[in-house]
Amino acid sequence: MPEIATTPFADQKPGTSGLRKKVRIFQQPHYAENFIQSVFDVIEAPAGATLVVGGDGRFHNRVVIQTAIRMAAANGFGRVVVGQGGILSTPAASNLIRKRQAFGGLILSASHNPGGPDGDFGIKYNVGNGGPAPAKITDAIFARACEIDRYRIMDAPDVDLGTLGEQRVSDLVVEVVAPVADYAALMEQLFDFDAIRAMIAGGFRLSFDAMHAVTGPYAHEILENRLGAPAGTVVNGTPQDDFGGHHPDPNLVHARALYERMMAADAPDFGAASDGDGDRNLILGRGIFVTPSDSLAALAADAHLAPGYAAGLKGIARSMPTSQAADRVAAKLDILLHETPTGWKFFGNLLDAGMATICGEESAGTGSDHVREKDGLWAVLLWLNILAVRKISVAELMTEHWRTYGRTYYARHDYEGIATRGADALMAGIRERLAMLPGETVGDLTVETADDFAYTDPTDEITSSGQGVRICFAGGSRIVVRLSGTGTQGATLRVYLERYEPADGRLDLATGDALAPLVAAAEALLSIRSHTDRKAPDVVT
Ligand code: G6P
Ligand code: ZN
Repeated sequence: MPEIATTPFADQKPGTSGLRKKVRIFQQPHYAENFIQSVFDVIEAPAGATLVVGGDGRFHNRVVIQTAIRMAAANGFGRVVVGQGGILSTPAASNLIRKRQAFGGLILSASHNPGGPDGDFGIKYNVGNGGPAPAKITDAIFARACEIDRYRIMDAPDVDLGTLGEQRVSDLVVEVVAPVADYAALMEQLFDFDAIRAMIAGGFRLSFDAMHAVTGPYAHEILENRLGAPAGTVVNGTPQDDFGGHHPDPNLVHARALYERMMAADAPDFGAASDGDGDRNLILGRGIFVTPSDSLAALAADAHLAPGYAAGLKGIARSMPTSQAADRVAAKLDILLHETPTGWKFFGNLLDAGMATICGEESAGTGSDHVREKDGLWAVLLWLNILAVRKISVAELMTEHWRTYGRTYYARHDYEGIATRGADALMAGIRERLAMLPGETVGDLTVETADDFAYTDPTDEITSSGQGVRICFAGGSRIVVRLSGTGTQGATLRVYLERYEPADGRLDLATGDALAPLVAAAEALLSIRSHTDRKAPDVVT
């Protein structure tokens, strides 16, 4: 097999979600090749195995797809299944890996990070269950990348990614598939499309912002063509390789236009957005933003109203910084609640073992055991299914939810691109003081427990420690602080604030007012300003 000599790059350590770097880093000669070969060397796929390859359409996507195909051919794969135009949303790729019983897949994306030549790019390896590779594999990939001295690549012309059907690169069959078809079919199985169609035909109005990213074609097909929403329901629905110069992150900052539309007097009934690669979601009703943590809790409480979940849930899983709202639903349903470290990869084993059905993260990710990635459009469709059956508005549903379970006010404060030294000093400082915190009062708050989160996966007993500091106060409020594992420059500090009000408590406060005491407590405990050199967070979500 044709081999090319190479030397290692020292910076190919996968983070929370694969290897993410600036496009210019990926454009260095041998850079993508080294990483892909390290993946292939570690996974040792049997000869003739199937590999799924797809990406979110960002700049550099097609270049790396052609490289991956030539390398798959030289590494003994039998078949590559690739989305037409190189496009596959992350959940659609997960579905294809499962459906085709592929050995694994390469997902080319930097998720919600900006694209274009000055933006970010990424490569993530997913295993045969359709989910992101666990740490033992990503650690091995990094170790391999640190010593790699050759990669295998076929000298072959580009595959025509525009034409559906099979082509060959030497012995490798390359199958170009329609990106939306299998995914849309899966959604039709899970949700009551007739009920949603009837709701829309009855005058229910919705708006979906695809943010110039990968969900455009999926949303056009599902929401407009299959569910009958009028043309124009999907905005920014044509994927662009620089996401129109925007930041394809569906939060209140980057999806501002949608937010403002939903807060206007003539707002539609429902608004939603998804990110660069289609796995995140933002949910809004007329006049109301549903926090991702509340969305997880509300979806879990009513999921049985959708055909795919009519049998009830086996359990709920949430990442540690996600609010405890879902815990109260799990308690009422008398099902297990799993608290995992940040990163979707931690849910895979629980889903495979049938210990959880629905999962969610504060970072706008929600999903279920239908695939092994979070899934933006899935969350939108489950919301629509629930609203269609219950015939109430988003605001009414949330109010009723809080009256039943209490309300968890929640916000995340991000300090982006700060100096690593200050970030590390802040974390080291609070870690040192953890044991002394219980009993301490900060303003009106009394610390009940404080720890550095560690998680032991119940299916394989592997422990992940140092996953973020939790400071819990009497009454159920909480501050969590950790460093992001997905940033591409400097460090990003995340401070998660939550305040619990019981069902008979104050349910209609403005979030900023409700959380003010926690913001003050966070500053007092963490000295954020001096460590970050910032007067205020860069992003509040
Ligand atoms: C990605 C991962 C999520 C994670 C999020 C934030 O989207 O798929 O699982 O919650 O990044 O991670 P971070 O380490 O930046 O907080
Ligand atoms: Zn994403």
